[in-house]
Amino acid sequence: MVVKMHPSIGLVEAIKQRRAARSFRGDPIPEAILQEILELGIQAPSGFNLQPWRFIVVSKQENKDKLQACAFNQRQVGEAPVVLICCGDRRITQMEYITSVIHLGEDAGAMNDSYANYLRSNIPEFFANHSSFETMETWTNRHTMLAVAYMTIVAKSFGIDSCPMEGFDSAQVKEAFQIPEEVDVCCLLALGYPQEPFKQYGGRFPSDRVFFNEKYNAPFQFS
Ligand SMILES: Cc1cc2nc3c(=O)[nH]c(=O)nc-3n(C[C@H](O)[C@H](O)[C@H](O)COP(=O)(O)O)c2cc1C
Repeated sequence: MVVKMHPSIGLVEAIKQRRAARSFRGDPIPEAILQEILELGIQAPSGFNLQPWRFIVVSKQENKDKLQACAFNQRQVGEAPVVLICCGDRRITQMEYITSVIHLGEDAGAMNDSYANYLRSNIPEFFANHSSFETMETWTNRHTMLAVAYMTIVAKSFGIDSCPMEGFDSAQVKEAFQIPEEVDVCCLLALGYPQEPFKQYGGRFPSDRVFFNEKYNAPFQFS
């Protein structure tokens, strides 16, 4: 029986309270909460709805230890009850995969012949030109991180802390977890209940440093 869980922290508070946890207690994440984190995470948007993200859910201690060794021995990897190896699959440009996205849209009642034809011709063309990115890995990372960001917020709303990590050796992770050549490791995401030392809020730049008005560097102000 699937138990439905309800978040205990609202969206705004979850965003404000989330910190990248540096240490975790061993307590497991309830299955129903993990399911919410994973399934809501993949509600993130993606170009052409191609959903290039793939996640390896690592929870066995021996595998977390193996992953920790590929992650400059960062303690959160071995401590967290669950660590996701967050990947992007570059094979999403293959026609067979595009067809599966079309079928998905048909099943959802959101596809017609003209849109299906549009996808069949435009997706290969888009990736042949790719004027908005340099490499396919850039494109898959763009999307995978969005799903990861969703997961960090959903997790916090259920009282689960997280730590996104780029401190790992990609080649080692790929070999240890049998990740295909056409799949890139975007980041790791440790999930669990935090323990001391708790991470302090490091601050964020004020909005006038990061938001511009109509063109780069032009001051933006809230009226
Ligand atoms: C893409 C990415 C990679 C990161 N890599 C690591 C990492 O390898 N190890 C780590 O302890 N924290 C890592 N962090 C966490 C950041 O240090 C942390 O998010 C940042 O200091 C801001 O703190 P806050 O998230 O608690 O607000 C990473 C965060 C992001 C988004």
